[in-house]
Amino acid sequence: MRKPFIAGNWKMNNTRAEAKALVEALKPLVAGIDNVEIAVAPAFTCLEAVSPLLAGSNIGLSAQNIAYAPSGAYTGEVSAAMLKDVGCVYAIIGHSERRQFFGETDASVAKRVRAALDNGIIPIVCIGETLQEREDGRTFDVVLTQLVEGLAAVESSEATLVVIAYEPVWAIGTGKTATPEQAQEVHAAIRARLAECFGGEIAEAIRIQYGGSVNASNAKTLLGQKDIDGALVGGASLKADAFVEIIRGAC
Ligand code: PGA
Repeated sequence: MRKPFIAGNWKMNNTRAEAKALVEALKPLVAGIDNVEIAVAPAFTCLEAVSPLLAGSNIGLSAQNIAYAPSGAYTGEVSAAMLKDVGCVYAIIGHSERRQFFGETDASVAKRVRAALDNGIIPIVCIGETLQEREDGRTFDVVLTQLVEGLAAVESSEATLVVIAYEPVWAIGTGKTATPEQAQEVHAAIRARLAECFGGEIAEAIRIQYGGSVNASNAKTLLGQKDIDGALVGGASLKADAFVEIIRGAC
């Protein structure tokens, strides 16, 4: 069975003091929950402050991105070795905000996924269609292309390490959530394509998170869908109470 995985994407929020306070508030609320995998993704500047607070807890540390190159002249990038050094277990890759505002492509996503796997970091690979693409009837085409191209360098033997986050762009930060049926339909298509790429048994073991305006009131029904194995949470992960309610929805 797939262990549900709830990750909080803090995006460009929180100073070090705020990040530490949020983690300190969260830790006692989630202590003892062992049937859900939990992670938070602070900004790069907060990773070092948060990392020791998470040591020995049931909350893993994630980065919000990862460089594809190991080191060198890549201004503004942070390498896998640097992320490991500070205690990161996961890295979010190809978030729609990276694709929309910073020119991230399926090809660069594929290279970043490779860098993560080569360094023992679990990639959380984000895919999702825009509103225009959905209205044009291109949801499956767009999402499955991003999936296949983003995972182009992944071998079957390591595919179960990868986490997919299906995040319809029109649902991110907008308060509009995909209905559980809309989300499940895409999740099922993603799993079917994973089965074509890696085989059915491996596809059954890969976690597929849903993301996009997940909150304490809609989490449980979304997480109750057959192929929804967790959530990537933005806004609602910035408040410990709301985030823990979402986690409880996966228990
Ligand atoms: P949101 O963000 O929960 O604020 O919509 C989700 C995400 O972008 O990962």
